Amino acid sequence: MGVKCLLNANEISVVRGKYQVDDICRRIVNNYYDMDELFGVMDLSEVVRRFLRLKEIMPRVEQFYAMKCNPNENILKVLAAVGCNFECASMNEINRLLNLNIDQNRIIFANPSKPISHLEYVAKHQVMKMVFDSEMELYKIHKLFPNAELVLRFRCDAKKADFMLGEKYGCNPIRDAPRLLKIAKELDLNVIGVSFHVGCGCKEPEVYGRAIKFARDIFNFALKIGYAFKFLDIGGGFPGELSTDVKPLTDIVNEALNMHFPEDNIRVISEFGQYYVAGACTLTSNILGKRKIQDGNTEKIMYFINDSVHRNFVNKVCDIAIAVPRPLFPNSASTTEYKSTVWGCTIESNDKIHENIMLPELNCGDYLAFEGMGAYTQACESNFCGFSKTLVYTIIDEFTYGLIKNDEIFKTNSNLVEFKLNYC
Ligand SMILES: Cc1ncc(COP(=O)(O)O)c(C=O)c1O
Repeated sequence: MGVKCLLNANEISVVRGKYQVDDICRRIVNNYYDMDELFGVMDLSEVVRRFLRLKEIMPRVEQFYAMKCNPNENILKVLAAVGCNFECASMNEINRLLNLNIDQNRIIFANPSKPISHLEYVAKHQVMKMVFDSEMELYKIHKLFPNAELVLRFRCDAKKADFMLGEKYGCNPIRDAPRLLKIAKELDLNVIGVSFHVGCGCKEPEVYGRAIKFARDIFNFALKIGYAFKFLDIGGGFPGELSTDVKPLTDIVNEALNMHFPEDNIRVISEFGQYYVAGACTLTSNILGKRKIQDGNTEKIMYFINDSVHRNFVNKVCDIAIAVPRPLFPNSASTTEYKSTVWGCTIESNDKIHENIMLPELNCGDYLAFEGMGAYTQACESNFCGFSKTLVYTIIDEFTYGLIKNDEIFKTNSNLVEFKLNYC
């Protein structure tokens, strides 16, 4: 492994010793950054820490990563190396994993309404596990991939979540699930179990208990019509903010599994997305422009930065709380704070990232750091108005390096490079 003092966005930089992500961002700016390109630093050690934590506190549940949340290839490689599997929404996502030589049995295709060409693709590559929630999907699968292993998705919504999915996906567990299972049986399809998704950023831990109870009821019905289910997918939904403690959620999952699925021959999986990556990425935006305005007696400042609600702040459009920035170089910032509005870089007038937050006075070329920007950010970014996509540098610490370096995925095509924080 060569030693470098510059980061390269295609590589995973192994940082020796203790470090702060902010220091790495500052170093990028000071040493080789050309001012106004938006960049982020993704600490993959945090992603792995979260994987290991779940393994410890929710040991019955096998982890799959919902790659739609952040499909950065280095995240995929590192998670694959520590033993995480993958949930995919499309053929292109599956194709990326297969190109990394990730075994097709480590993938679940959990989009309940799959395009025909994607079904043909998974049939060809024998990606067996897939989700359905409608009669139409059963007929499609019967025609194109009749020996697929099917998972029935039912609806069970959290009372409060950042993003509800139930209106769109998941059949009614009482009214529709038995009907769909009977149709599947008539078509001689291989249904192996059930899945649910309580909603992204779940704020009601108890919902996992309710959903696991529904799952048991569907297992019991299935047995009556000749399906001995062995597969339970508890979906995604764990929050990912840095401050999140998932223990209350895992306690409820563990307890519900013990109560409703005491048998140990049931394979239980999860498909978390934001839990792994949200807290792992710090974005560094540049102040492109500034205007002072007078609002009554108050002087306010408007900033224009090189990020946008059409780039990493898509969540803003869905009314989900977004990171509050801080100056990346606090010492050079003034001490007086002003009510500030932070606008995005596109010409669109709703492209407002924050309004009336307190910030010290900043100038053109200064940097703002936004923490906790790894989930549904770069994955949802558009190039509206011609701005190029965020450049993301990935780093890991020595401990994580030790865990992954000998995995097959890094043997054939290693992009692990030692990075000396104080080298030049
Ligand atoms: C089928 C499926 N699984 C998993 C996820 C990941 O959800 P989260 O990021 O809330 O964990 C999603 C998100 O939309 C999803 O649709």
